[in-house]
Amino acid sequence: MAQVRVTVDGVEYADDVEPRMLLVQYLRERLGKTGTVIGCDTSNCGACTVHLNGQSVKSCSVLAVQVDGSEVMTIEGLARDGQLHPVQQAFNDNHALQCGYCTPGMIMQSIDLLGDNPDPSELEVRHGLEGNLCRCTGYQNIVRAVRDAAQKMKPASGTPDTAESAATSASVAGGGS
Ligand code: FES
Ligand code: FES
Repeated sequence: MAQVRVTVDGVEYADDVEPRMLLVQYLRERLGKTGTVIGCDTSNCGACTVHLNGQSVKSCSVLAVQVDGSEVMTIEGLARDGQLHPVQQAFNDNHALQCGYCTPGMIMQSIDLLGDNPDPSELEVRHGLEGNLCRCTGYQNIVRAVRDAAQKMKPASGTPDTAESAATSASVAGGGS
């Protein structure tokens, strides 16, 4: 066993884990964060995407012990004060999901994409999401949703208003399993 201390969705956890445990397993099985899903388990589909210290990663390709001392954000930590994150809202508004299985990973990847490029072209969105697979939508509405979110997140300053960056700068509460 190895000890891991990690902040997930703004809450600190300290746990003993097997060195072979994947981050996605830790999130789902230890923390009950089943909003992060497993699609392929072989780092192909992107369904398990979360943010690790603000960067998107496929959590099936990261060991839980590797996130010791880090901050992880999952789809479950995005909403604030009962308000969906703008990207979540845009996916809803643009009918960017059918079964929804890919959606948590798509949204986490889209937020990362918009952090790097606040006003992406259609091609840039498609390129940015190429590691995330959807079997239902044909991607049209997903691309539309990301570009819609980009417009809505654009404040007068031109800097995207990411609810996540506000969250990561906020102090975290204690607790854990
Ligand atoms: Fe991680 Fe598919 S479950 S990429
Ligand atoms: Fe079903 Fe994308 S909405 S896999």
